[in-house]
Amino acid sequence: MVEFISDNIKYIGVDDLDIDLFEGQYKVPEGVSYNSYLILDEKVAVMDTVDARKTNEWLANLEKELAGRTPDYLVVQHMEPDHAGSIAVFAEKYPNAQIYCSTQAVKMFAQFFEEADFGSKLNPVKEGDTLALGQHTLTFVMAPMVHWPEVMVTYEQSEKVLFAADGFGKFGALCKYDGDWACEARRYYFNIVGKYGVQVQNLLKKAAGLDIKTICPLHGPILTENLGYYIGLYDTWSKYEPENEGVLVAYASFHGGTAEAAKKLAEILKEKGAKKVAVADLCRDDMHEAVEDAFRYNAMVVAAPTYDGNMAPAMHDFLHHLQLKTYQKRRVGIIENGSWTPLSGKIMRGMLEEMKNIEIIDTIVTIKSRMKKADVANLEQLADAILK
Ligand code: FEO
Repeated sequence: MVEFISDNIKYIGVDDLDIDLFEGQYKVPEGVSYNSYLILDEKVAVMDTVDARKTNEWLANLEKELAGRTPDYLVVQHMEPDHAGSIAVFAEKYPNAQIYCSTQAVKMFAQFFEEADFGSKLNPVKEGDTLALGQHTLTFVMAPMVHWPEVMVTYEQSEKVLFAADGFGKFGALCKYDGDWACEARRYYFNIVGKYGVQVQNLLKKAAGLDIKTICPLHGPILTENLGYYIGLYDTWSKYEPENEGVLVAYASFHGGTAEAAKKLAEILKEKGAKKVAVADLCRDDMHEAVEDAFRYNAMVVAAPTYDGNMAPAMHDFLHHLQLKTYQKRRVGIIENGSWTPLSGKIMRGMLEEMKNIEIIDTIVTIKSRMKKADVANLEQLADAILK
């Protein structure tokens, strides 16, 4: 699918439907797109390349839109290989094209491309520098740590286009896009950019000073309408505010005992009027979807059996993910299970206490092997405390 942006700004990106795991960890059943753009004016600029998995397809898109012209410039907004993977091939094919990138990015060229000599082709830019193409002028805006330190975004003044690097990106190939942006954009945001809320806030403040009509991200659809909706969600997410009222019940279970208690709690929460209850089986469901839901809702309950004097590894992995992504500002309850010495609750609490502004419900519900009638009363109390 080729998206139309304007007569002079062309989409030349590619869909990757063959990839099994994006960045070696994220499931992408609908694939992913590596976006790249071409600006045709007196001078011709290419905005980012694509993953090396798709170099040839991208070069074919580029050549078609060039219609016999030659690129004068390559703008590199982000050096991560899903975007920078075709730079060396591009530079070999178009040896006269000058490369514009941040100072931080210049240092990374030698790290990623030992064989290629970019020499005098590299033009480092700083905040507010411009590149005139003719009718179009590019203004570079530094966006460090929106996802990597060298990231910058680019504003094109005449058509009011923001080339947003990873910002506003989502999982999913463009040919699979059904109009539901938020679901996979949220999973992408919290798992990939989530740690850097402060830096995203800084970028949003800069963006607020620009008149933006179109957002061209490096993944996912080009955004042209209702931009306030997307920017509003990014504002909520990057402030670590809950997007919806609701509870995530995340559990790990070996023999079904902890799962039974977790599901019973979910049922009680619904009976007591919880607006939304999401349940995640951390041993089977997508871990990154669970991370997304943890950030989406205002409350969470974690339930795990004791294992080797610690907790079920899947729960440890989940809480570790939340620590990495700076999970904060939420109310959390704990259910532990143990057949002889239940310890998982204490250790889960320890990991949660290391996070910022987490209100931990005081009483840990302890299940001994299987949920008993008496345990249900404790789950009722936990539900009340979570919903208070
Ligand atoms: Fe899409 Fe941070 O790379």
